[in-house]
Amino acid sequence: MSTILAENIKVEKTKNSKLSETDFDNLSFGKVFSDHMLICHYKNGSWNEPKVVPYQPLTLDPASKIFHYGQSVFEGMKAYKDENNDIYLFRPEDNCKRLNISAKRLAIPEVPEDYFMEGLKALLKVDADWIPTDSGSSLYIRPFIFASGNGFHASPAEEYTFIIATAPSGSYFSGKVKVAIEQKYSRSANGGVGYAKAGGNYAGQFYPTQLAIEKGYNQVIWTDDNTHEFIEEAGAMNIFVRINNTLLTAPTSDRILDGITRKSIIEIAEANGIPVEVRKVSVKEIIEAAEKGSLKEMFGSGTAAVISPIAGFGYEGTDYDLPELADSYASKLKKLITDIQYNRSEDPFGWRVKVD
Ligand code: PLP
Ligand code: COI
Repeated sequence: MSTILAENIKVEKTKNSKLSETDFDNLSFGKVFSDHMLICHYKNGSWNEPKVVPYQPLTLDPASKIFHYGQSVFEGMKAYKDENNDIYLFRPEDNCKRLNISAKRLAIPEVPEDYFMEGLKALLKVDADWIPTDSGSSLYIRPFIFASGNGFHASPAEEYTFIIATAPSGSYFSGKVKVAIEQKYSRSANGGVGYAKAGGNYAGQFYPTQLAIEKGYNQVIWTDDNTHEFIEEAGAMNIFVRINNTLLTAPTSDRILDGITRKSIIEIAEANGIPVEVRKVSVKEIIEAAEKGSLKEMFGSGTAAVISPIAGFGYEGTDYDLPELADSYASKLKKLITDIQYNRSEDPFGWRVKVD
């Protein structure tokens, strides 16, 4: 099979750059979009070659299956600039693999790895000036595939569109994160699509999350759908709990997203002498630890959220506050992982990929 290279990908440049109007000193998350996007169509059983075009609205048939049957999957990744303005990605092949794992589950044709990787590099070269230089900011990258083929028949579409759009972004959460441990609703179930980054997984969370927000929380921590006794993950993050000096996190399963930040943190923690246990973590155990004072910290991990310390959680009407630690695992691990991402330290794991 022939492979494509970033330098051979067709580029149509915008005539109306928004770069000079963008306030890079006050970036929120995912609200302004860079000048270009990568686009690629699937028709007649194969993917056409990707091209870089100006960021623009799409025209879709009202009967496109994405609207009716939610056939869509996405990824989240970031591009970082170091102090020399060199551009880096963090474990990008893992995002490509996960996009295709998600696609397979939603009966969406998989995207060739070179279309994803070389297409992304071509896009980043054109929009290099959109990558923030400020530490703490980065270019959030959103690859996604959706059913653009039409028909009311409830079956997979015959046509799909793959896009990579990007947004210079600051932090995902503003301020402290308070979570509610969910006791009624479920995000996913055995045999379902929880492990996929399917758009519908997020739509299904919005209503229970709105209920939690009305009560003063920012996110829901999902528990297993069967017993609601074990924590699984949050709306947009995996969850770590520190009891005494041990870091605990739930094992991945077909209900939980296999987070790239999660698995990196496990490796970094172990390499830095932090004991980690990947095992089922019960709500009972967390509450008992909170009452005894052995619950030291909780944090979420994700590409958008990086490492977000949890200030407190609510469970069955009671709020539990977590102490503010001067020397937390969250701050130590955040420094270690972001130093690798922004090329401020050695990369002993070989995760950083330079975009030349
Ligand atoms: N869990 C969910 C539901 C997510 O949406 C995300 C974000 O991508 C994560 C976990 C963290 O995954 P990653 O670290 O690969 O970004
Ligand atoms: C990410 O961290 O990249 C995510 O996909 C979370 C997203 C739902 C904002």
